Amino acid sequence: MINMTKPTPMLAQYHDMKKRYPDCIIAFRMGDFYEMFFEDAKISSEVLNITLTKRGTNYDGKPIPLAGIPHHAFEPYFAKLIKAGYKVAVAEQIEDPKKAKGLVKRDVIRVITPGTILSSGTLEEKHNNYLAAVCKKDRQMGLAVTDISTGEFLVSQFSTYEELINDISRYAPKEIIIEEALFSDNKFYNSLKNINQSARISSYPTQHFMYYKACETLKAHLNVASLEGFGIKDASQAVSSAGALMAYLKETQMTTLAHINKIQFHSNTEYMTIDPITLKNLELTRNIRENTARGTLIDIIDETVTATGSRMLAHRLLKPLLNPEKINMRLDAVEELVCEYLTRENIRDTLKETYDIERIISRISYGSANARDLLALKKTLALIPALKKHLDKAKSSELRKIKDMSNMKELHDKIDAAISEDPPLSIREGKIIKQGYNKELDELRYLSGNAKEWLTQYEKQEKLKTGIKALKVRFNKVFGYFIEVTRANLHLVPNTYIRKQTTVNSERFITEDLKEKESQILGAEEKIVAIEYNIFTRLTEDISKHMTDIQHAAKNIALLDFYTSLAYIAHENNYIRPRIDTTGIIDIKDARHPVVEKMTDSYITNDIYLDTEKNRLMIITGPNMAGKSTYMRCVALVVLLAQVGCFVPAKSAGIGVVDRIFTRIGAYDDLTMGQSTFMIEMNETANILNNATDKSLIILDEIGRGTSTFDGLSIAWSCAEYIHEAIGAKTLFATHFHQLNVLEDEMSGVKNYHMTAKEEGDTIIFLRKLVEGGTDKSYGIQVAKLSGLPKEVIERAKMIQVGLEKEDFKMIKKYKLQPTEQKKLEKETKKDKPDKIITKKETEKSKKDMRIKEKQERKDTQKTLFS
Ligand SMILES: Nc1ncnc2c1ncn2[C@@H]1O[C@H](COP(=O)(O)OP(=O)(O)OP(=O)(O)O)[C@@H](O)[C@H]1O
Ligand SMILES: [Mg+2]
Repeated sequence: MINMTKPTPMLAQYHDMKKRYPDCIIAFRMGDFYEMFFEDAKISSEVLNITLTKRGTNYDGKPIPLAGIPHHAFEPYFAKLIKAGYKVAVAEQIEDPKKAKGLVKRDVIRVITPGTILSSGTLEEKHNNYLAAVCKKDRQMGLAVTDISTGEFLVSQFSTYEELINDISRYAPKEIIIEEALFSDNKFYNSLKNINQSARISSYPTQHFMYYKACETLKAHLNVASLEGFGIKDASQAVSSAGALMAYLKETQMTTLAHINKIQFHSNTEYMTIDPITLKNLELTRNIRENTARGTLIDIIDETVTATGSRMLAHRLLKPLLNPEKINMRLDAVEELVCEYLTRENIRDTLKETYDIERIISRISYGSANARDLLALKKTLALIPALKKHLDKAKSSELRKIKDMSNMKELHDKIDAAISEDPPLSIREGKIIKQGYNKELDELRYLSGNAKEWLTQYEKQEKLKTGIKALKVRFNKVFGYFIEVTRANLHLVPNTYIRKQTTVNSERFITEDLKEKESQILGAEEKIVAIEYNIFTRLTEDISKHMTDIQHAAKNIALLDFYTSLAYIAHENNYIRPRIDTTGIIDIKDARHPVVEKMTDSYITNDIYLDTEKNRLMIITGPNMAGKSTYMRCVALVVLLAQVGCFVPAKSAGIGVVDRIFTRIGAYDDLTMGQSTFMIEMNETANILNNATDKSLIILDEIGRGTSTFDGLSIAWSCAEYIHEAIGAKTLFATHFHQLNVLEDEMSGVKNYHMTAKEEGDTIIFLRKLVEGGTDKSYGIQVAKLSGLPKEVIERAKMIQVGLEKEDFKMIKKYKLQPTEQKKLEKETKKDKPDKIITKKETEKSKKDMRIKEKQERKDTQKTLFS
């Protein structure tokens, strides 16, 4: 039988908390530590690699597992727990332990979750940390997304899962809460998990998503009578998600969240749709291999100099616009800054001096800002007049809009007057307020400084009086100030000294004078800290009153950085302004792949012409390694950049806006989803065929290769026909099935092209120029040779290839041949095929020679190639 004992009051307090926050690890504040108990302790010990011990016993008499972390260094520990997928409820002592009668009162003051973590060690400067809420009602889906570190709060509404998931994937939220009923939809859950493997996905009670309740939550938070001003009143599902998101924030953050003061409605008809697969394939922000930013588009085009600017660029890159007028407004701003070199450099120099005031204002709203944040805010405010001055002559409407921000001079001066120039991190240790700001503070500082001098004097005087040379006045937290005398000198101690403590080598005494001074010093220091803290808090309250102005300035700084960065890369990389229209024609001359061109100094440019009639579907053939995939991605990236409002890597570019870019590229196994390579390929293709419109751009890279030749060819063929006949989207279709070239004769919108390569004796030279007409040469075996396949395998493959082509079965059955026959065969094989390939690497050996040679060769490519 279990021996039930009465729990200690503290244990009862703990169990009560655990009952209220069952899905959280309770970090229970005990003096200088946060302690975790029971299962929480075991998890923490394992995740954080800290010691697991035991303390006391539970009701059942069993020892209680315990693990602890120091409270002053909690951030990295909590961050690690969050990263491992847990939620942490921080239970603080909510009364002063010194004043508490009996057990110190404790309560949960915040629940930290992956989507609401604020510690600077975890938040990446250049990235947003999003939390999302989703619901579905009457066939409509609502999405609300927030980043509490910046105060952003965005909502949108969709009529299909697909649109919803596309949009979520752009934000890559760290946490998603889903309305209960929708949460139990496995298919939806799996697709969410698939695009966002690392996100914490959990269900949230339906009641918070009820329209009426959600409205009330939002209205109460925003302090408005109606949501009309935010343009979302009729977007019922968007409101539901937004309300639930706000409820979740209130429940976990337990603070006013005053910095979240507006809701932005994003209509999905305003932006180009980029599905998660395309986002991945085009390597816009993450590369496929390592899932890092290396070698991605953003890596090339992000030359912002501020964290806010960088976040804005990432956001806008994934939301290209559809409206030519709006795109042109952005391009006007970029063009102006491209032309005005000096202005651009001046702006960039000034921006470099600014701080991330968007996150600072959020910390102020959270009450977690320190004096250094205020100093950073002051320094940034001081730069606003200069930024505005740089824009004095601005002509474009976007730049002129930026100029319209408040200097907040008064606020600047207020911070300047109060906050000292080199404050410590902590706001509870003094030294944050300037001398001369507050009379009482100055007096106390004088007193405390003087008192310290008094102590030195006192020590000297007592040494003289008693004749004890080694006498010391010292301080510790338990006894305060005391006099320490070594054993050898004890006989000299006067009887006015009051003995307090004996240590191994000495005795400690106090005197009445010393105690009186002590109370003065400690009293003064305590008061100093309190006054400084008070001034600081009042100042942050003042700053909060300017919240909207500061947020506005933060946004304008980000915008300015966005435009100057785009202008800077346009200038540095020799990009040009695209012409944007709605003609449906994409006409680019000398396009370059923005990433690949950086990796070589012999990049070969190519043109593209696509329209809505005769040039709708390009079938692109050509050898392996010839540059087909690079070409197609290049086209997609140029179109995307143009619609973002960025200059593009080309000689000229006319872009008829596209509503979506679809890509089906390469094969990667996703065994975790229980799907085969071929199945994934087919799913992705199905998605394209079902959702593309005649305004879309489709990139199909070798579809149908994951199965047998005839199956693959048949699928590729019928897909091409369907796109041409039923969809009419502009399409680039790269394939090794040269049989598809016959489509050109059968369908009016199909054009054959191929990537050129030239055979010269036993050598293949990749010319990487796209020309009209198809080809059936693949040189697969020659390319494979470079990969390090054993020589015998390559030789044998060549023989089989010749055998297959000649339909000579004998050649394939090599092992049944006589030695003389075999020799003859080998000779024949060699005669047939070039043996050497000039690759990029080899080219680099004699770049100059090659370039001259290639130039000449390109001139007569058309005539000599594959004739
Ligand atoms: N226009 C170009 N200028 C210079 N180098 C290029 C160009 N296009 C491609 N390359 C280089 O050639 C390599 C191979 O190109 P890519 O992958 O596009 O070939 P591919 O035709 O798609 O080959 P495969 O048929 O095997 O898929 C690229 O990694 C790049 O380094
Ligand atoms: Mg390819």
